[in-house]
Amino acid sequence: KKLRIAVIPGDGIGKEVMPLGVSCLKAAALKFDLSLEFTEFDFASCDYYFKHGDMLPKDWKSILLGYDAIYFGAVGMPDLVPDHVTLWGSLLKFRREFDQYISLRPCRLMPGVPSPLRNKKPGDIDFWVVRENTEGEYSSIGGKMFENTDREVVCQETIMTRIGVDRVLRYALNLANSRPKRHLTSATKSNGISITMPYWDERLKALTKEGNYADLNIDKFHIDILTAWMVLKPEQFDVVVGSNLFGDILSDLGPACTGTIGIAPSGNINPEGRFPSLFEPVHGSAPDIYGKGIANPVGMIWAGQMMLEHFGFKDAALAMLKAIEEVLAKGEPHILTPDMGGSTGTTKTLGAAIERNILG
Ligand code: NAI
Ligand code: MG
Repeated sequence: KKLRIAVIPGDGIGKEVMPLGVSCLKAAALKFDLSLEFTEFDFASCDYYFKHGDMLPKDWKSILLGYDAIYFGAVGMPDLVPDHVTLWGSLLKFRREFDQYISLRPCRLMPGVPSPLRNKKPGDIDFWVVRENTEGEYSSIGGKMFENTDREVVCQETIMTRIGVDRVLRYALNLANSRPKRHLTSATKSNGISITMPYWDERLKALTKEGNYADLNIDKFHIDILTAWMVLKPEQFDVVVGSNLFGDILSDLGPACTGTIGIAPSGNINPEGRFPSLFEPVHGSAPDIYGKGIANPVGMIWAGQMMLEHFGFKDAALAMLKAIEEVLAKGEPHILTPDMGGSTGTTKTLGAAIERNILG
């Protein structure tokens, strides 16, 4: 099976870490005899914006529909173009138009990366956060009335559809089913939010009665205590699923428990493959370190690893993850980037060390 990948480096350090991401994927392709085809695009960047007056070409959708996946760096140069122009003009369009209704983030403590939580070692934190990415609390239905009077009132609705809730829960159930612990935790708040959250719970219960989820270990926590447990006892989690808002919070908190922002990856997934899925590092374009060659490439490389895993290239994905872990575990200051305690290490030394390890 051939994987067609649209490569979009974007802005800032996105342009610095992308080449290392691509070279690691090429190493995995070589080693495991995968057919990966890379096509690079210069749009979704401020450079493109200054040349063409827009973040994307008019026919961006039909261009990208020709690919299985989008491998994305980062977008945004807030001193040059306002973030709402860059972000809404590119990344958020991809997420919406391509119905990437799953946002997926691994929360895995890597060797050699100190956790901000006390006494945690690799293995203690190893779970996934699955976030609903299209509806829920982030609807634009609502309004403001009696503006600038003492009767001023605002409201904003939460929208949950059966299709929308079922598809994210089903994805999370299947993901949990594929893992050794077979444990799903659902984020809820059905004590306080008395219509939508009980509906979420009800759909989960209904879905678990179908298919082969029978002996899956399923629990639910209210979001407030769930965030506390994530910090106090992350060992108990395996797959955690939440609505758009709850998932947003958990998908920042989870990776934060595992150390530096430079290493966390993220997937925006259209599971049916009707549209391309997008894989990117969690971090942005980091204008403060752009041009110095010291951006950590691990988030970008790990995002590539997630991409291979998503498309079923299990052996190659495992080898890439192992390569990242082994290089970080060695902790060599002339290899690691400064954000990981390195001294003379750069984007290139760290990326190349991982590439060499993959080629093994
Ligand atoms: P940021 O993630 O770019 O940077 C936050 C801090 O983390 C900075 O001090 C930066 O130097 C550091 N950092 C980030 N990635 C790193 C890496 N790989 N290695 C070492 N250090 C790293 O977030 P910030 O500063 O809030 O946003 C900068 C721009 O990026 C803005 O225009 C923002 O809109 C955009 N952005 C884009 C995202 C995307 O494309 N998905 C996500 C987040 C922000
Ligand atoms: Mg967020």
